[in-house]
Formats: sequence, structure tokens, C-alpha cells
Amino acid sequence: MKLLTSLLLIASAAFAQDLVARGADVYVKSCATGYCHGLKGSGGGAPRLASRGFDEAFITRTVRSGITGTAMPAFGTTLARLDLAAVIAYVGSLNGIAPNPALAAMLRGPPARTLPPEAARGRALFYEASRGFARCATCHLVDGMGIAVTDAITKVPANAAELRGVSATHVATATAGGEAFPALVLSKGVTQVKVYDLTIAPPVLRVFPAASVTIQEGSAWKHASATQSYTDAELDAIVAFLKAVVQ
Ligand code: HEC
Repeated sequence: MKLLTSLLLIASAAFAQDLVARGADVYVKSCATGYCHGLKGSGGGAPRLASRGFDEAFITRTVRSGITGTAMPAFGTTLARLDLAAVIAYVGSLNGIAPNPALAAMLRGPPARTLPPEAARGRALFYEASRGFARCATCHLVDGMGIAVTDAITKVPANAAELRGVSATHVATATAGGEAFPALVLSKGVTQVKVYDLTIAPPVLRVFPAASVTIQEGSAWKHASATQSYTDAELDAIVAFLKAVVQ
């Protein structure tokens, strides 16, 4: 048993190194160019990334979603999944973070298990590329895929009707520069407020000086607007998928 555990640890350490090495390659191609973050995150036209004390959640979010109003693009939709995980692990390594087992899981892809046919159909619908940003995976990370604009889904609706009626209690109304918009607040610091703006699909990450934005509870945003590209039968299949994978 003990031997097995140490073998597993060795395997995952080797794996972590592979991941970081791959990430270094991706970094050189995508992030280190003349105007951007420099070799080994040393900085260039864009900020230094090494030894900044970034945490993994911040790195993941920023690499995936970019920073609005800056030259930092969202790589979540342009890099392959593996490369995305690798470059996040690499920037993490520049900040003293060991690759997260969850990234390793992302690399391996979703666990090999067979879903019942209805749930498997629901899974395909949840991620369906032909729907563009109208698909569920635009805002939800489930079963290792998708973009985590919101917290993980914990309450699975009973059926399509309940899914259509999901209420968005955490969506607030942000007002900045005379403009009000539905917002999911990511962080509210003394100097900075970060929100996802739900006006547009995909939701955009916006960063404001704390003094220039006000956040009020409640919003006119309806989750129903996010499910309307699906038929009831499709939503029932998606419910079957969520039931199968959400604990
Ligand atoms: C444009 C973004 C967006 C899209 C697309 C979207 N959702 Fe949501 N979803 C949200 C937001 C925002 C919330 C509410 C978060 C809150 O207020 O707690 C939410 C909440 C939920 C919840 C409730 C989660 C819980 O634990 O209470 C479920 C279930 C859900 N969504 C499923 C889906 C499904 C299935 C689809 C596709 C048919 C979908 N969503 C499409 C943004 C989206």
C-alpha cells in the first residue's frame, strides 16, 4: 500500500514536471513576445509575472478570461485545453506554486466513465460548440470543462421547467460611469472591484477602481435568457447529465 502511494506520488511529480515544461513552451510562443511578459516572466511591455505572489485562482482566471481594457487577451477560447492547463502551471511555477492536482485532472480529461445515454446526450448539449456562447459551458465549469464564470453548480434542478426557472440570486447591479449592468462580483477590494459583466455573451471580466463603481443587490438579469437556445427535451437531457456528475 505504502509502495503504491509512493509510486503514485513519483508518477504525479513526473507528470507535474512534464506539465510545467510544456507550459514553458506555450509561454514562449504566446506570452513572452517582445511587447508582452518577457522571458521567464521577467516583464516587458506587459507586467512581470515571476515572483508576484499570484495565486492559482487569479492566474487561471486571468489567462482564461483576459483583462478587459488592457492588451491581455482571453486565452480560454484560443489555446487548446492541454496548453492552457500547462501555461497556467508554468506561470504558477514562476510564483512558487506547485501544479495543482485539479490541473492534472484537466490534462487527463474527464474521468473515464460511461454515462447513461440520456446523460451523455446532455453532456454533449452542455458543451455544444455549434451554439456558440449560448451554450451552458460559456458560464459553467462542470465535469472538468467549461468556464467558471459562476460558482460550481451544487443544486441540480429536477427537470427542464425548474432549470428554466433557476433564479440568479447572486447577480447584482453594478453602476459605473452612469452605466448600470448585471454583474457577478468576483472580488471587492479596498482599491479594486472585479466583476463579470453579464450584458454580453460571453460575460466579460471588468476591473474598476473601487471608488468608481457601486454594487447593488439584485438585478433584472434572468437565467432564462441563458437557456433559451435549448428545447425542453434538451434541457431534460442536460438535467440527467448534471444529476450524473454533480455530487
Ligand atoms: C451567460 C451565462 C450563463 C449561461 C450561458 C448559463 N448559465 Fe446557469 N447560471 C449563470 C448564473 C450567473 C447563475 C446564478 C449564479 C447565482 O446567482 O448564484 C447560474 C445558475 C445556474 C444554476 C443554479 C446553480 C446552483 O447551484 O444553484 C444551474 C443549475 C444552472 N445555472 C444551469 C445552467 C445550464 C444547464 C445552462 C445551459 C442550459 C446554463 N446554466 C447556462 C450563468 C449562466
